[in-house]
Amino acid sequence: MPVAVSPSILLGDFGRLDHELAWLNASTADYIHCDVMDGVFVPNISFGMPVLEAIQRRAQKPLDVHLMIVQPERYLERFHALGAHILTVHHEACTHLHRTLQSIRALGMRPGIALNPNTPVHLLSDILPEADLVCLMSVNPGFGGQAFIPHTVRKVAELAELRARLGCPTLIEVDGGVGPANAAELIRAGADVLVAGSSVFKAADPAAAVRALQSAGIAGA
Ligand code: DX5
Ligand code: ZN
Repeated sequence: MPVAVSPSILLGDFGRLDHELAWLNASTADYIHCDVMDGVFVPNISFGMPVLEAIQRRAQKPLDVHLMIVQPERYLERFHALGAHILTVHHEACTHLHRTLQSIRALGMRPGIALNPNTPVHLLSDILPEADLVCLMSVNPGFGGQAFIPHTVRKVAELAELRARLGCPTLIEVDGGVGPANAAELIRAGADVLVAGSSVFKAADPAAAVRALQSAGIAGA
């Protein structure tokens, strides 16, 4: 399966949302990654419902919504109404993660779990079958443009092993500092979805940067 790329709109120009969505729609990007931050779970506030609504109205790609908020279970219906296709909540932000994932699925969305860099993969052994995606954070969440944390490659391999052992088809997503320097090794370790903010939006040709990440797996095989 070729790797999927989910450009993080957080690094886009919100003054030119039409332009950003136009090129994303015309590109080979597989998803649009939307980072929602509440200033409590992470030390930053990004955007919320009205901006997501504006993105949804223009987007022709599935929205991969990454919630960096406390008590995300309070807003599941709202994010469903705003067009989330994948809805990812943080392991560290959910007291009743199992229930939250089931509620996300019952609403018709694909449930995802995100893990901070210091949260070990083995904590997922009882919950993995409930998730369609696990997002391994390769930076401390809160900001775009940070440096990739190298131990993530080992965590991807561990998660690939766990999912093989449990026989579940959960997608492995990597988020933070992903770009041409690490894409091939992440794909070799088992990553299925690469989130890319700076490496795509700061590129001279963002659509070409998306294609380059998608072919990193082929070139690195
Ligand atoms: C970090 C966010 C990431 C980030 C990706 O908290 O979850 O999605 O925007 O941006 P880069 O690729 O620049 O690290
Ligand atoms: Zn993210």
